Amino acid sequence: PLKLGVMASGNGSNFDVVAQAIEDGHLNAKIQVLIYNNPTAKAALRAANRGVEAVLLNHRDYKSREKFDEKIVQTLRRYDVEWVIMAGWMRLLTSVFIDAFPNKIINIHPSLLPSFKGINAVEQALASGVKITGCTVHIACLEMDSGPILMQAAVPVLPDDTPETLHARIQIQEHRILPMAIALANEVHSIK
Ligand code: GAR
Repeated sequence: PLKLGVMASGNGSNFDVVAQAIEDGHLNAKIQVLIYNNPTAKAALRAANRGVEAVLLNHRDYKSREKFDEKIVQTLRRYDVEWVIMAGWMRLLTSVFIDAFPNKIINIHPSLLPSFKGINAVEQALASGVKITGCTVHIACLEMDSGPILMQAAVPVLPDDTPETLHARIQIQEHRILPMAIALANEVHSIK
């Protein structure tokens, strides 16, 4: 089984679908640990419900992004993590983190990258007037929301969409492609 470390900042629905895919036997993996950075993140409750160990690393307790990332890397290593899944992780990464897990950090983002990078991707898409947006699962690089794309799914923008209704439609697709993309990433790695 792939040894996963999941990172989440908030709700954790993507954490949950990965855990569910594993439970259902659709993804041959184990979640070694969930790391979350906000004390109130619902993701932590979801981990408790599923018997997954959760570690709070609050970025506010660290002097720099690098110090914070050192602690994250240390924790992931302690749990023997092989693949890192950023499932709604809302912090910028430094080279400390990227270099510790070369090509093994997977990120999910609520737009069709390279469009609408950064925070508020759903709002950005709505404001731009595009009729199609979606979600992307990719290998994370130092530059925010860039790196080789593993999978994307397209989602229509409807005339009376709000950020909430559009995000809900995007999340249905996120939940479908994230477990598949994790399996795909591992396949791609093993082709030499
Ligand atoms: C997801 O839509 C994910 O794509 C997005 O945060 C949401 C987390 O949902 N990530 C980013 O915006 C990263 N910049 P969840 O907590 O329910 O999994």
